[in-house]
Amino acid sequence: MPCATREELEQKRIDERGSAMVLGHEVILETHALVKAFKGFVAVDGVSLRVRRGEVHALIGPNGAGKTTFFNLLTKFLPPTSGEIFYHGKNITRENPADIARRGIVRSFQICAVFPHLTVLENVRVALQRSLGTSFYFWRSEKSLAQFDDRAMQLLAEVRLERWAGTPAADLPYGRKRALELATTLALEPELMLLDEPTQGMGHEDVSRVTQLIKQVSANRTVLMVEHNMSVVSSIADSISVLQRGRVIAAGSYAEVSKNPQVVEAYMGTSSTELAGTG
Ligand SMILES: Nc1ncnc2c1ncn2[C@@H]1O[C@H](COP(=O)(O)OP(=O)(O)OP(=O)(O)O)[C@@H](O)[C@H]1O
Ligand SMILES: [Mg+2]
Repeated sequence: MPCATREELEQKRIDERGSAMVLGHEVILETHALVKAFKGFVAVDGVSLRVRRGEVHALIGPNGAGKTTFFNLLTKFLPPTSGEIFYHGKNITRENPADIARRGIVRSFQICAVFPHLTVLENVRVALQRSLGTSFYFWRSEKSLAQFDDRAMQLLAEVRLERWAGTPAADLPYGRKRALELATTLALEPELMLLDEPTQGMGHEDVSRVTQLIKQVSANRTVLMVEHNMSVVSSIADSISVLQRGRVIAAGSYAEVSKNPQVVEAYMGTSSTELAGTG
């Protein structure tokens, strides 16, 4: 079994809360043989992976490998053709997107649109209000709104945007917009954050700023991210799963997967060197 890691060979055990434990780490998310076929084309082909609580887990692989489709299965944007998804040991395969969000699985950078005409602070406040749903009306007193502002400023501090609080979102530089999107995601109190190519289209400085932010906000949370930039992956990912043509071809630490000849070949078309782009 070429993609079996040391951990997969390790005997799994179940803790009191029903979550799987691997090497003493709690597994927050686990998929079993997940498949997504589009009219006969198999985009996700039997993916089994485990994400441990508290880690930054990177999902990497060439274009068309099935990474975004895999995310769409996790958030229930798409129903799987077969296979199962477990969250804290509970089978969530048949739950709907709202159930998934309520469990704290939140996808950033696509669903959390930023309203360009609202200020940075207002954007975060809207996200906070939205996270409360209809119970928001309960909060409508001036005092309660001020409490919203306190929480919004805390979130802005977390992504280092305090001094931009009064700026319309449209006037933010690109990298700061991404930081704002991160703040609006944090407003939803995510337990597991799914980030699909968070540094895509960014210049060097923004890449390192957003990378550090992701590292920082991952404390007390779990992050599963699709990322093409190998220096980002090598600097913040605790674990990596490599997808190729819908299958996991390698899993483990950066040091482990970057030496894997199949991974090198998938990326470079040759197995003679290690992965390029490490930093
Ligand atoms: N709704 C769909 N209908 C048919 N085929 C699809 C659909 N969505 C994705 N695919 C196909 O599934 C494969 C995997 O696509 P996916 O977007 O998941 O790849 P990816 O790994 O995210 O790639 P990239 O790195 O370019 O973002 C591709 O061949 C794509 O064309
Ligand atoms: Mg994609």
